[in-house]
Amino acid sequence: MYVAPSILSADFGRLAEEIRAVCEAGADLIHVDVMDGHFVPNLTIGPLVASAVAKASSKPLDIHLMVKNVPFFVDLFLPLKPKFLSFHIEEEQHPLRLIDHIRRSGVSPAVVLNPHTPLSALEFILGEVDMVLLMSVNPGFGGQKFIPSALEKIKQLRDLIDRKGAKCLIEVDGGVNGLNIADIDEAGADVVVAGNYIFSSNDYAEAIRALKI
Ligand code: DX5
Ligand code: ZN
Repeated sequence: MYVAPSILSADFGRLAEEIRAVCEAGADLIHVDVMDGHFVPNLTIGPLVASAVAKASSKPLDIHLMVKNVPFFVDLFLPLKPKFLSFHIEEEQHPLRLIDHIRRSGVSPAVVLNPHTPLSALEFILGEVDMVLLMSVNPGFGGQKFIPSALEKIKQLRDLIDRKGAKCLIEVDGGVNGLNIADIDEAGADVVVAGNYIFSSNDYAEAIRALKI
């Protein structure tokens, strides 16, 4: 299991220090939540701060866009060369065009599904992306409770990917902790995002280890 700490729950007054700490504690990716105050009722970070995050991090970035006007934001964040750049499928009229644009820029494209969005939205997309991010909370805030129906969705997506022989990873984001990680792993996830669970612990290495099962 790859672990991507979400910096949304980090101490922003000591952001560089927090990023270095989770990198040393075993993070595989640094998850950066970009919220625009329109797609979700919260406003987080822009490219200026994300660029400072990239400088502090020894691990690749996993940028999660929770925005309207997706192509505008994609072009703002592509220059940072994250490993993954993901956008919500609910918000984009021309996802295949955008996926192609992200890939041509040397970044791995990923799409995100809200908890209520059916897997059928992926029917003609699955073969084109490197990762699908399944939300296990309604996006907008850290520290929310894992929605149990996400487990069944992970299983169904695992089956779909295996049946189609697609090469994309499954990432799960929201409410992941040491108690539900075994179920998430068994359902078939490859990458988990964790904000509150890691940053509210007093031993980041121990928290990350608990998720790497
Ligand atoms: C929620 C964000 C998540 C969030 C996860 O909208 O996409 O990445 O920070 O935080 P936890 O692990 O605290 O639910
Ligand atoms: Zn996220």
